[in-house]
Amino acid sequence: MAPTPSSANPHRPRIAIIGAGIIGLSIGFELAVRRGVPVTLYDTGAPGRGASWAAAGMIAPAFEAAGEAGAHPRLFDLCLESAALWPGFAAELEAASGLASGYAAAPALAAAMDGREAARLEAIAQTLAARGVAHRMLDGAGLRRAEPALSPQVLSGLELETDTRVDNRRTVAALIRALEACPLASFRAGPAPLKSAGRTVVLEGHDAVIAAAGWQTAVIKVEEAGGLYSLVNWDTALDDIDCYGGQMLSVAPGDGTPGRVVRSGDVYLVPRGGQVVIGATVEPFIVPDGADEAATEALRQAAIALCPGLEAAPVTERWAGVRPGTPDHAPFLGETAAPGLFVAAGHYRNGILLAPITARIMADLVTGRDAGALAATFSPRRAYTATA
Ligand code: GLY
Repeated sequence: MAPTPSSANPHRPRIAIIGAGIIGLSIGFELAVRRGVPVTLYDTGAPGRGASWAAAGMIAPAFEAAGEAGAHPRLFDLCLESAALWPGFAAELEAASGLASGYAAAPALAAAMDGREAARLEAIAQTLAARGVAHRMLDGAGLRRAEPALSPQVLSGLELETDTRVDNRRTVAALIRALEACPLASFRAGPAPLKSAGRTVVLEGHDAVIAAAGWQTAVIKVEEAGGLYSLVNWDTALDDIDCYGGQMLSVAPGDGTPGRVVRSGDVYLVPRGGQVVIGATVEPFIVPDGADEAATEALRQAAIALCPGLEAAPVTERWAGVRPGTPDHAPFLGETAAPGLFVAAGHYRNGILLAPITARIMADLVTGRDAGALAATFSPRRAYTATA
């Protein structure tokens, strides 16, 4: 059972958050900075240096969720709601931290270079039209007017007003700064000292625990009878959080490199922080052992096919990250079968996009408020069918 709301609770709940990536940090920001609820954030590594750091920073509900066959049926709704929260979230974060979030409300372009991709974009356009979501179909010439760096080979495409971008590395730095400056928030390096109490999991001095450690949520440990056991023994849904490795690189901008987010098929280009980020592979059930030269070179070649001017752009960085994914490619948001143990993990390709709505939903749930009907469909105890 969730603790009672802080307004009705004389001792105010204290919330432990395991994982200080963009999801855990955003929940901490919502609770401590916006709602005045004390939080402790635990991380076994450097805060914000996992998937939040590896991501490109796209906020892409239309491209990532409108057309994904077999995904959670409300994923697109969740993504749209979170995209709409981003401008306000970024503004509040900037005010609280004094740092730029890197949010930019510039619409993304999706381009087709063959008939198959054109059909896919057409299907996304139909979904958007049916939902009344703003978008613009473009022919090849229209696309090239919108982004002159695109290849003359582009056939058709979409301008997606819902799909924007943020400098995720700046956002994470701003979240850390805002929480460090907040007297109600504290960071602890290392694992959270969870203990079992029968079928529940407790952390001394805290009223609720939120497991928000990305793909590593499934390997959080609990002490019982002097031994350490995986958290999945207390709630089997966490066992369904898998890893999806991704390879990426960035290049220096120059003549012929794009000035806005453009994507085609499996490749995307994101101008960010004075670089152009090129992503990304998706490697199910793989935790990459660093950047892979061959995989990142294949991405670079796909990017050059889309924007030929990239051929001359020097590579500035290559890296790999790990996305956490669930069987229906939507996050687990809610209380697990172990009372007082909540989970916010499994955001798959949408961790940056979904940070603001995740923070709001989880803050509602752990303070005993109604998070709404949409949130309830993302419970870790939902029924789902596998997509991947
Ligand atoms: N959101 C893009 C990716 O995960 O690669």
